[in-house]
Amino acid sequence: MEMGVVPGLAGVPVARSSICYLDGSVGKLQYRGYPIEELSEHCSFEEVAYLLLFEKLPTLRELDRFRLELTRERRVKFRIIDMLKTLPEGGHPMDALTAAVAAMSMFYPGDHVSDLEFRRDCVVRLMAKFPTIVASWHRIRFGDDPIKPRTDLGHAANFLWMLTGEEPDPLASRVLDVALILHAEHSMNASTFAARVTGSTLADPYAVASSAVGALAGPLHGGANEQVLEMLASMPSSEPAAVRAWAEERLARKERIPGFGHREYKVKDPRAVILQRLAVQLFGKLGRTETYARAEELERQMEDLVGHKGVYANVDYYSGIVYQKIGIPRDLFTPVFAIARIAGWLAHLLEQLKDNRIFRPSQEWSGEADRPFAPVSER
Ligand code: ACO
Repeated sequence: MEMGVVPGLAGVPVARSSICYLDGSVGKLQYRGYPIEELSEHCSFEEVAYLLLFEKLPTLRELDRFRLELTRERRVKFRIIDMLKTLPEGGHPMDALTAAVAAMSMFYPGDHVSDLEFRRDCVVRLMAKFPTIVASWHRIRFGDDPIKPRTDLGHAANFLWMLTGEEPDPLASRVLDVALILHAEHSMNASTFAARVTGSTLADPYAVASSAVGALAGPLHGGANEQVLEMLASMPSSEPAAVRAWAEERLARKERIPGFGHREYKVKDPRAVILQRLAVQLFGKLGRTETYARAEELERQMEDLVGHKGVYANVDYYSGIVYQKIGIPRDLFTPVFAIARIAGWLAHLLEQLKDNRIFRPSQEWSGEADRPFAPVSER
């Protein structure tokens, strides 16, 4: 069948999937058929990761076992830490994560990915070590020693602990836990597709994960939450008339306001609704900031100005504001996204391997053919 080129494969289904259901016209997002609202209210990130990876909600026993497996795998080999120490301290944390994850296959050589036990070991290892790698790199780049992971803390709280060595605030830990749930999966986006393409070659799961991290590192994928903070810092104040004038000026220049709009959602991103509710609690407990006041006012004004076009705050609008409040540095926002999304990437890898066929799309030829060749001496 003759098909024209579809730039970015927009609208082209590339897999059958039962992992994430998304209906952006009504703001519906479900993992394995369970609404994101219920999962984020009642589950931990580990529980949601189990659901994504193993296709069912765990029983208490299954969840305890999975948690134990994860906590046992949190530590990172000292040679990987040594390798991180050799990287330039000014390098981006996403590049450090890509390098460390790619190196993992050398430290954990194993059977072929068709071996189910090897596959599960890789999945647990990757899930468990992502936070340790990100936190260790953050310490190393400032000349500090990495902080050893604890076994008595959940995934999110332990990450906060490893960043600072301070006892994590329970509300901050829960907010991060929910943010991880909200970012764990989002159907066929660029990094997930990258994971499936690499997985389809039967590459090992570490290569799959590093391909996906590399894809997420691009500014068109992760990173809008960093821009949101820069934008809020550049606003004159949180005073309604000033915010309105500021937004109108940008919209008149046809500028895109970071943190608003989404290709899939034509109503408010359901993840933004959940994160906004948590932000209210967080700022209520830990104190409001000028950034938060500006964010609230800008959202009010934007709803009035562009809500009729189906442009509302997306998950990135709130994630950056919340991460900043709980002490996560700005250039770790995308690595935190990766700490969450590794669950979705691996779920897609497992799905791909169930009924694998190597990706081999075609192309439309746009060059010259049958050109006369001349040796270099005659050109
Ligand atoms: N600010 C102002 N106006 C906007 C915005 C925005 N952020 N987003 C869309 N619009 C307007 C467009 O200008 C357009 O107006 P027009 O019809 O008068 O020309 C209308 O809304 C429809 O825009 P589209 O281009 O059709 O929207 P699309 O679905 O292609 O874009 C996108 C989605 C790329 C995310 C866009 O909204 C955007 O650039 N947002 C800012 C960046 C951002 O926050 N990205 C993160 C997305 S969430 C995530 O990745 C987890």
